[in-house]
Amino acid sequence: MEMLPKRKFSVREIREDFPALRQLIYGKNLIYFDNGATSQKPQYVLDAINRYYSKNNANIHRGVHHLSQQATSEYEASRRFIAQYINAGVSEEIIFTKGTTDSINLVAYSYGELLKEGDEILISAMEHHSNIVPWQMLCERKKCVLKVIPINQRGDLIMAEYEKLLSSKTKLVAVTHISNTLGTINPVKEMIQKAHAVGAKVLIDGAQSIQHTKIDVRDLDCDFYTFSSHKVFGPTGIGVLYGKENLLEKMPPYQGGGDMIKKVTFEKTTYNELPFKFEAGTPHIAGGICLGKALEYLSQFNIEDIEKHELMLADYAQDLLSTFEGMEIIGESKNKTSVVSFIVDDIHPFDLGTLLDKQGIAVRTGHHCTQPLMDFYKIPGTVRASFAFYNTVEEIDKFIEAVEKGISMLK
Ligand code: ALA
Repeated sequence: MEMLPKRKFSVREIREDFPALRQLIYGKNLIYFDNGATSQKPQYVLDAINRYYSKNNANIHRGVHHLSQQATSEYEASRRFIAQYINAGVSEEIIFTKGTTDSINLVAYSYGELLKEGDEILISAMEHHSNIVPWQMLCERKKCVLKVIPINQRGDLIMAEYEKLLSSKTKLVAVTHISNTLGTINPVKEMIQKAHAVGAKVLIDGAQSIQHTKIDVRDLDCDFYTFSSHKVFGPTGIGVLYGKENLLEKMPPYQGGGDMIKKVTFEKTTYNELPFKFEAGTPHIAGGICLGKALEYLSQFNIEDIEKHELMLADYAQDLLSTFEGMEIIGESKNKTSVVSFIVDDIHPFDLGTLLDKQGIAVRTGHHCTQPLMDFYKIPGTVRASFAFYNTVEEIDKFIEAVEKGISMLK
């Protein structure tokens, strides 16, 4: 796998690559604004999945036979490409997991084993449940203390409070790069520098960032970075934990089984080296390969063009929505992208979402796995439109019309 030659950024041409976008829902052209939940897949990835299962399907790291070697070589090529894509130091720093949730659980369990009673973990008030619950479980297990960086009404982290919370007791800061509910882009580089100054490690939840912005883990200097394939145009059920090699070396295995061992006897087992130490059992081989293919597909574009287009879409949608009476935009950071969450008076988000669906428009409604954030805003949930680089201004115009119609029916 390799970085592909650059292609002109043409949304019309990009849309041609995504067969799922060419379908009718209830007789209307699909408008897919649920990219925060999962993204659609380009033909490039669909072909790679098909090719893998039609020709190269075999177990990896195990067989002397041709197919097994072929599958192993593609799987490991994908790992190397992912390392290159996010600028990891070495490909051993790329651990394949089931996705962001699994990656965070791996760190919470394994890095957590190195913590002791009274150690502190900082998360933020805008975290997804996946970046809250594993730390709560760790705190229960090891008697550590979980602290929460507060946010202001606009949906920005309060950096002064963050600085106050940091101390020599802080062992880990786990924070989302881009909020799945608010779209806020957190100042993670600055946060990492401040955490390192007190000796803490930092995990960045990148589930909502790698598809929208450039990720350079060495420039960020994060200790862990996690993401899911399915949100970055790849298959579901596979994701990545990036970890700094020296840290991963110190961490004990997460799960036991095949592939993660060097030698097993009934008396004692020794463990495999990185990255295999953390990859027990037959992995999602097609997924691992095709996540690489998804990033290879993405490498054709300047990420800055994607960023610019998505920011334009989000600004346009937010400006138009803001003109509706009774509208409350949830998340008004000046530094946000690709997500617009809102509620209108006492209309239940589910009802509005259902009416939008009938117009062929896919949005997510509810708490978006951020219940503490909903409690902060004192709301039951929001309607969330989340954009990808294949969305268009025309789709937003139709969405605005449908929201207007929905509101008039529900008021
Ligand atoms: N975390 C995903 C979302 O925000 C599922 O919708």
